[in-house]
Amino acid sequence: MIYNFDELIDRKNTDSVKWNGLKELYGRDDVIPMWVADMDFKSPPQIIKALKERADHGIFGYPMVDENYFDPFIIWIKKRHSWEIDKSWIVPADGVVDALKIAILAYSKPGDNVVIQSPVYYPFYNIIKANGRMILKNPLKLNKNGYEMDFEDLDAKLNMNRTKLLILCNPHNPVGRVWKKEELERLSEVCLKRDIIILSDEIHSDLVYSPNKHLPISSLSQDIQKKVLSFYAPSKTFNLPGLHASFVVIPDDKLRNEYKNMIKSVSTDSLNIFGMTSAKAAYENGEEWLNELLEYLMNNIKFVLKFFSENMPDLKIIEPEGTYLMWMDFRKYGDESTVKDILINKAKVGLEEGSIFGEEGNGFFRMNIACPKELLKKACESIYKAFK
Ligand SMILES: Cc1ncc(COP(=O)(O)O)c(C=O)c1O
Repeated sequence: MIYNFDELIDRKNTDSVKWNGLKELYGRDDVIPMWVADMDFKSPPQIIKALKERADHGIFGYPMVDENYFDPFIIWIKKRHSWEIDKSWIVPADGVVDALKIAILAYSKPGDNVVIQSPVYYPFYNIIKANGRMILKNPLKLNKNGYEMDFEDLDAKLNMNRTKLLILCNPHNPVGRVWKKEELERLSEVCLKRDIIILSDEIHSDLVYSPNKHLPISSLSQDIQKKVLSFYAPSKTFNLPGLHASFVVIPDDKLRNEYKNMIKSVSTDSLNIFGMTSAKAAYENGEEWLNELLEYLMNNIKFVLKFFSENMPDLKIIEPEGTYLMWMDFRKYGDESTVKDILINKAKVGLEEGSIFGEEGNGFFRMNIACPKELLKKACESIYKAFK
């Protein structure tokens, strides 16, 4: 390996929500934080170099997004996800959650339904509710093969009068599914039949483990492309979430104009200059680093699976097809609050309780394994000792 993912880096006092917000979140600050989706690895040196060079220039005026800004992103999506994007389809954004919010405002009215597939990334709930829209759940089904979509229920929910939008999470946070072509085709079919717009959050799309392959739903057909907004960012892939640079791909002219008009009314289209610098450098020069990262993450995943199958066989863990998040079924160890108390106060490990992703997640916990192996081992051993 060229890059050193084993390095333990002190992140305390770096304004990190993951490391500095522990007391507020867990009531104590001596827990190992394995919660929010950011990694304890340094970003690729190529990005750090580009940022330093930009900082050295010393003038940080309003940035202009010229056409070339999108080139590295377009090449990246074609190479990694086999989807050819036209430059005119792209709208830059600060962050994916903000962009989703703008889309909800653009394509629905207060009181309209937005469908989500729970258990799912919890800010989806907030952005729907806070804007006066209604959350309509299409819960995922858990069977012996893992999580699957419930298409019958989905069709019924999409057929309801005021259902306008579906937020697709692909790869899915927290359950780690990378939706297969057949699943996405079925989903497209139902959405087209009911004239539903799909907001496809693909922020984790670069973090997929072979032989799984990410497929942008918009790339499936000309028809579905007209009904999809796809959301991307280099932030999960290269550990840049504090820099706020993302991309919304909207092939349909009408949808894109409506989205842009909504930006004008509620936000600004000004970007952060360091976010732009990092996004360009990431997509231009980050691939070798990402390939090594994926190998390292896969080893971490294998370690966690093996460790708990040997030491806590009643803890059922779903092997993720994508993301660096592991979804763990603690239901054999007590109810959620009991397990949470043991994790925080005995093991001193900060996971996220499943119920925040929706009641379907009750009894599960989400573990972020994107950290040096030594820290991961320490956390797993602490959990084992605490439950023993
Ligand atoms: C599915 C999903 N969407 C969006 C985000 C956050 O995106 P942003 O920081 O660009 O708002 C996350 C972060 O964990 C996520 O998991």
